[in-house]
Amino acid sequence: MTTPEAPAGAYLDHAATTPMSRAALEAYVAEAGRAGNASSLHSAGRAARRAVEESRESVAASLGARPSEVIFTAGGTEADNLAIKGIFWGRRRTDPRRTRVLVSAVEHHAVLDPAFWLAGHAGAEIVLLPVDGDGRVDLAALRAELVAHGDEVALVSVMWANNEVGTLQPVRDVVRLAHQHGVPVHTDAVQAVGQVEVDFAASGVDALTVTGHKLGGPLGVGALLARRDLPIEAVLHGGGQERGVRSGTLDAPAIRAFAVALAEAVAARPERAATLAALRDALVAGVRAADPEAVLRGPEPAPFPAGGPGEVPARLPGNAHFTFPGAEGDSLLYLLDSAGVQASTGSACQAGVPQPSHVLLAMGVPELDARGALRFTLGATSTRDDVARLLAALPQVVERARAAGLVTGAVRAGGAA
Ligand SMILES: Cc1ncc(COP(=O)(O)O)c(C=O)c1O
Repeated sequence: MTTPEAPAGAYLDHAATTPMSRAALEAYVAEAGRAGNASSLHSAGRAARRAVEESRESVAASLGARPSEVIFTAGGTEADNLAIKGIFWGRRRTDPRRTRVLVSAVEHHAVLDPAFWLAGHAGAEIVLLPVDGDGRVDLAALRAELVAHGDEVALVSVMWANNEVGTLQPVRDVVRLAHQHGVPVHTDAVQAVGQVEVDFAASGVDALTVTGHKLGGPLGVGALLARRDLPIEAVLHGGGQERGVRSGTLDAPAIRAFAVALAEAVAARPERAATLAALRDALVAGVRAADPEAVLRGPEPAPFPAGGPGEVPARLPGNAHFTFPGAEGDSLLYLLDSAGVQASTGSACQAGVPQPSHVLLAMGVPELDARGALRFTLGATSTRDDVARLLAALPQVVERARAAGLVTGAVRAGGAA
């Protein structure tokens, strides 16, 4: 079996997905070669069940949780939907006054969209918590909301780390404030796990989302960690698997590979994070030298690891995010791609039309500047050559993208530079 590799060229989009590790791929193939439904009572079924339960123990140990707190899902989006909808319905069942859902303005759409769906279909009121210029949630706004409406709040959801600008959130402070009002906290830790220390029990959160394909595991598998006393309603109904809150035949091969990749990523994290931070620092310095107009978005990278023991850095070690005034993010992305460098604008298209990122807008970045966004994210396979290739291509790419922006008038309109 060959060792999995990043796509050819300089792959700087590990936050979108990162290659499977060799150990995870081997675990996947070994398990996929066996038949057996983990719900069946015969020996093949019991073997599949054993693989799932061993993986559950491993996932729990990697993340500071109990095995009974692990609910396997088909990835981060499903875990986020289960958290937002399931906790909302669970809390309303016991107390119908609890209709308010507090989410930070910079959440991934996998959190924002189910929250707004609840507003449109289930009588929820959504409160978007503002963030500062670095994308960090405003704790004073959270406190004020809880003081004014604590009895009506169903849940708070604040991500551990932002997927666009890499900002780490003050999750423990969020938990402290919310718990003073008896409000449970969910955190989307999809981007954080494997990059910074994530401990479910120590963090105090009530529910946490993790996914396999951002840390060396397969696509389409992840988990929601949820405390046993957290009221949570099923979103998928059927065979009653996973405490009755997530029906569906368990994907034993994917679950086993996910557990293997997670254990590896957590064990490798201290060393890998330091390596990524050093590469990221070289990338940031190089981009600034190549284009003095480029603006780093999100917190300024601090020396890694920051401060004393237990202190966390302000930004993910593998993330660098810039806006390039006068250039369209999409033009930059395609021009870089043709130079063999793969990056991301960090935000979604709607019907093929690039949208300025809701994260940057929430941080107060003007819309025209937000259009010139480019995210570079590093992972286990990243090398100095990847960064060198980006820096060699960048000056010409930015120049051409700016020229295209001038021609279309798309990004310099209104005099913004
Ligand atoms: C912060 C965050 N949450 C959720 C998701 C969705 O996870 P998945 O791709 O496993 O559905 C992503 C993926 O981009 C993400 O970055």
